[in-house]
Amino acid sequence: MAVRGEAPGKIILFGEHAVVYGAAAVALPLTKSVKVTLRPGAGNVDLRIPKGAEVPAHHNAAAPVALLERALGDAFATHDVRVELGVPPMAGFGSSAALAVAALRAAGAPRAKAKLLERALDVESVAHGRPSGIDPAVAIWGVPIRFQRTDRIRVRALPIGAPLHLVVGTAGVHGGTAPVVARIGETRRRAPALIGRAMDALGAAADAGAKGLARGDPALIGQAMRIAQGILDGFGLVGPEVRDAVRAAEGAGALGAKMSGAGGTGGALVAVCASERDAKRVVRALRGLGVRAWIERYGVSLPRNRSAR
Ligand code: PMV
Repeated sequence: MAVRGEAPGKIILFGEHAVVYGAAAVALPLTKSVKVTLRPGAGNVDLRIPKGAEVPAHHNAAAPVALLERALGDAFATHDVRVELGVPPMAGFGSSAALAVAALRAAGAPRAKAKLLERALDVESVAHGRPSGIDPAVAIWGVPIRFQRTDRIRVRALPIGAPLHLVVGTAGVHGGTAPVVARIGETRRRAPALIGRAMDALGAAADAGAKGLARGDPALIGQAMRIAQGILDGFGLVGPEVRDAVRAAEGAGALGAKMSGAGGTGGALVAVCASERDAKRVVRALRGLGVRAWIERYGVSLPRNRSAR
């Protein structure tokens, strides 16, 4: 009998890199997901990837097979595995974490979110040097979250006070997360006070952005994104194609836009728009630059009976 697990990719709206050092971050699930199907067999892997995407043989990319082996344990040798990688790989959309969580779910991992996160973190350590855990957390929670890791991990589902229109895209070539995280660690050792304050500001942008989400205030979200983008650019994390794309998105009417995820030479970017119409205009502008872009929509949700204001 076949068993299946599924988990979504993610977009980090606020707090990438700073989250590794204890700052708050905000991330949202994507409509794109990874599906893993197990059938009794002999450890054959059938990897299906989205049209136009490829799994780079880059040495920093987590090999999907290594993730599967770690997630499935003994079951790997006694099953054939089909992976439908609906999340573009090596772009900052959390494809490794989604694959890890989908495989764990297919293998019958615990349903309790905190327990599953522990397992996913172990699996994902194959991919990242020192993962904060934000990627598997979104894959597991499957809703917009505020994530913070200090002495322990805290994950909170975020209220969304009004329909939210994000444009998500990828530009340039993602060089892998681990070397970029290591480089920021090195910079932080050389200038701890400066980098510490910049990280605090990124955490403050995350909290302002979370307030904007709760109030249904895309202008506040956009403002916080522009400030975060300035700081991340100062860290040397914004590649030329991403910088051009961010400028083009804002030029086409986005209220704010920024890189997302590890960054470095290239990778994911995200823009917030006031309306569906504006979002379509931003997508057109980005596609005009050769950037792969699409709209992600989030409906109103008020977890834990919170009011929107
Ligand atoms: O691997 P990416 O591009 O999704 O980036 C993950 C976010 C970082 O903050 C850079 C790393 C982490 O583990 O949180």
